[in-house]
Amino acid sequence: MFDSLGELKRTGYCGDLRVADAGRNVVLMGWVHRRRDLGQLIFLDLRDRAGICQVVCNRDQYSEAHAKADEVRPEYVVAVEGRVFRRQRPNPELASGDVEVMAMRVHILNNAKTPPFQIEDETNANEETRLRYRYLDLRRHKPHRNIALRHRVVFEIRKVLDDLGFYEIETPMLTRSTPEGARDYLVPSRIHHGQFYALPQSPQIFKQILMISGMDRYFQIVRCFRDEDLRADRQPEFTQLDLEMSFPRQQDIFEVIERVMERAISVIGAMVRRPFRHMQYKDAIRRYGSDKPDLRFGMELQDVTKFLEPARATFGFEGNVYALVAQGAAAWSRKQLDELAELGKGAGAKAIYTIKVTPEGVASSLDKTLGADAVTNLAKSLGAKRGDLIVALAAKEQIPGTDSAALVAGQVRLRLAEQLGLMSKDRWEFLWVTGFPLFEWSEAEKKWNSAQHPFTGIVEEDLEKLESAPGEVRSKGYDLVLNGVELGSGSIRIHRQDVQARVFKALGLSDETARQRFGFFLDALTYGTPPHGGIALGIDRMVALFAGEKSIREVIAFPKTTAAQDLMAESPSNVDDDQLDQLGIQVKPKEKPTAGGA
Ligand code: AMO
Repeated sequence: MFDSLGELKRTGYCGDLRVADAGRNVVLMGWVHRRRDLGQLIFLDLRDRAGICQVVCNRDQYSEAHAKADEVRPEYVVAVEGRVFRRQRPNPELASGDVEVMAMRVHILNNAKTPPFQIEDETNANEETRLRYRYLDLRRHKPHRNIALRHRVVFEIRKVLDDLGFYEIETPMLTRSTPEGARDYLVPSRIHHGQFYALPQSPQIFKQILMISGMDRYFQIVRCFRDEDLRADRQPEFTQLDLEMSFPRQQDIFEVIERVMERAISVIGAMVRRPFRHMQYKDAIRRYGSDKPDLRFGMELQDVTKFLEPARATFGFEGNVYALVAQGAAAWSRKQLDELAELGKGAGAKAIYTIKVTPEGVASSLDKTLGADAVTNLAKSLGAKRGDLIVALAAKEQIPGTDSAALVAGQVRLRLAEQLGLMSKDRWEFLWVTGFPLFEWSEAEKKWNSAQHPFTGIVEEDLEKLESAPGEVRSKGYDLVLNGVELGSGSIRIHRQDVQARVFKALGLSDETARQRFGFFLDALTYGTPPHGGIALGIDRMVALFAGEKSIREVIAFPKTTAAQDLMAESPSNVDDDQLDQLGIQVKPKEKPTAGGA
């Protein structure tokens, strides 16, 4: 029943046919997207990676082709030999909609079971079904477009880095732990009984060693593995553009990345202004309540602590109070305001006070406590206009060393902007954030942790505070932010062995532990390490932003669920006892939580 491909040669893609092709004989191959049987005429929508075109099978003219078309069902694989005609009634929905193909011969190359969901752009299939049948899901136009976009972005990045003299160098996947703050995925060694490789959380140590090796400029489009809690912007395996340079000034790294981003974003036809903006970490928190501020809109945090002072006792808050002016939101419904309050409380707000600036005057929950005049003055001083809504927030709890109220206000700012439609899809606001602290205090562990990773360089004049005041030490780290998303992170590194050893000590690592974990690297540092620095950008996040997708899963061919499973390949999975035996591994039964335990 099946025809063979034989010597049939495809002339082009279905989705690429245009009016200029009218009159041409073509050979097309693809999947039957839809079939409409009008008796004498059967219409097949034939789909391939470029799109869809209409094929007409006419019983009177080509009865064999018509008979074959009678047999096919959706997702059958067919080849069509035919001639292109201009359509009498063009279909504006299709790029090839001005033409159709009159089939002279139809070859059925394979059949298909009825798919569990329709291969349409707007599918009603849930994500679980889509991921289980990812091969069918990927036949839809949108995933196709995203994967093609990803290819082009990565290709441009490779070209520009080659132009700039970077070598693409592969680093090991079977390696040992790299400290990037997540848990490792471990791979047991068969030959070395009881020993494990770790999959890299990043190539950090290797790329620094490549600088010690004199490679000068390295990059890699590299898979990284992190066993951490997953979200829309996090996968257990993800791809970085990883890069390192020798003898760089911070400015040199920024210039390279700005050129990379300029080329990458040109794939979607967007232009960027260079150089990108810069902001100190402290200012980002203070002005936007975030270390990755979305600069597509203003709505900066305004400090109203002084104004709210008389209400401090009544409302019982500590710390600062910040206000946001939401333009045109005075008319928001009770429901909208309740939702906002919910979000604020979820983010850690003690209370949310609103002031509506209406034509009748200023109306606020603060009137009673502060007096109407004071509230009116406050609204004026914040620059609120008629129709605006002012939202003021204090935090529930002060986390030492952070401005908790600012962070809460930062989240509310994003929600307000989303609701007000301020997150324009075609604005691209890049930002470098610098001036991060080197360490963060962990209350739970009662120790200092690296804010980025332990190889991050230190601002020279702060070196002396490494032991005496670790909390005040500034790092030479930087983040690249795009539209409120942390796209990348990097730093000028520590290149002196003595400084690196002091940092390990400040992190509470004994000499012995440091040697055991990083001995090879500490040794390498002693053999003539050049000053060096670099960065890694998240390719998945970058492409998701360019594609306008909320989740990075949409731009990864075979993503994992938020439970870190591949539903199609059904991994992770059990393995045979034999395999475990060879590895000397025995799986312990999972401990049941004890009664009354948390
Ligand atoms: P960092 O850990 O900040 O830095 O990672 C760099 C960038 O990688 C992306 N990213 C992720 N994307 C998807 N899923 C994840 N689980 C995930 N984790 C990180 C983000 C992030 O900004 N070695 C350093 C870089 C350096 O210092 O040069 C590093 O890995 O976009």
